[in-house]
Amino acid sequence: MGKKNRRRIKITGTGFYVPDKVLTNFDLEKIVDTTDEWIVARTGIKERRIASEDKAVSDLAIEASWITLKNAGLKVEDIDLIIMATSTPDTIFPSTACWVQKGLGADHIPAFDISAGCTGFLYGMILAEGLILSGINKRILLIGGELLTKVTNWKDRNTCVLFGDAAGAVILEESDDGSGMLSYYWKADGNLGNLLFQPAGGSRIPATAQSVAQDLHCLQMKGNEVFKHAVKRMGEAALVALKKAGLTREEVDYLIPHQANIRIIEATGRRLNLPPEKVYSNIHKYGNVSVATIPIALHELNEAGKFKKDTIIVMDAFGAGFTWAAVVYQW
Ligand code: COA
Repeated sequence: MGKKNRRRIKITGTGFYVPDKVLTNFDLEKIVDTTDEWIVARTGIKERRIASEDKAVSDLAIEASWITLKNAGLKVEDIDLIIMATSTPDTIFPSTACWVQKGLGADHIPAFDISAGCTGFLYGMILAEGLILSGINKRILLIGGELLTKVTNWKDRNTCVLFGDAAGAVILEESDDGSGMLSYYWKADGNLGNLLFQPAGGSRIPATAQSVAQDLHCLQMKGNEVFKHAVKRMGEAALVALKKAGLTREEVDYLIPHQANIRIIEATGRRLNLPPEKVYSNIHKYGNVSVATIPIALHELNEAGKFKKDTIIVMDAFGAGFTWAAVVYQW
């Protein structure tokens, strides 16, 4: 358990925002050759939220930030850094964090993006720990936001049924009571990058009429390959992080796995020997919202009063890169 003499960071506010518009599996049956039955059985997803055409991911992130600041009882002036994790930025430059900063009117502080696929939120927590404990920052707004439906290929049934739009956020600052982040583990393997990627739009394949005609600006994924790596790596990451925290699987109260597929979620729970009630899942409501899945789950559990003093939480993610990470946290 967290020792009082070790410096840690803790979460002092949570919140999230999802667009109102719901896209159900039945709606998708009219777009591609699929069925509600297949999607539920193979992924656990029943519906997802979809942002309107005029929105960019910063719009979702700004909403999530206002809600999170309010939940924390803070004003914009109280934060000293914005970190935005996203794979679907408003623009490649400026960073989405700068658009968020503009929207919040937070021009007194720095702001930048991190790109680590669906693992970006946990990478952000690890980065925030370094910044806060080294004295560079005092109170960080960390946002995970994604507008994946704008890079979705709506002709590809293998991928278009999986993703949704959302943003979640937390406030991070130094802990004063021994609670907070106990340990972490993070890794990447760029050799497997092309199993899940957006081929065009960067400097490798800039936009051309041909790149657009070939749908290269849309997400591409070898789903079953990604699936196998995700199950293996998420299990490993959680076990290594628990070991680093000096905790056993039996001491875990909640596993918050990245929400990519109910079968990955359940397999990770089994790897930790956890009963289903300790393995959080909300994938049926939102689909895979990438970097927003963990902050949304944190908020839902927090708001439902599930976190008591000393509750042990394992957050665990896997995503494009490949990247993967786990964080062990004591509430
Ligand atoms: N509706 C109906 N059938 C579909 C379908 C859909 N939406 N999508 C794929 N299929 C079909 C395939 O065409 C294939 O048919 P075939 O056998 O005739 O070729 C069959 O279903 C099985 O496809 P497969 O890809 O092997 O299914 P799967 O059980 O691996 O499930 C995913 C596919 C994408 C749901 C699953 O692999 C997955 O969730 N992968 C990881 C996703 C992920 O984690 N992404 C982000 C990482 S953070």
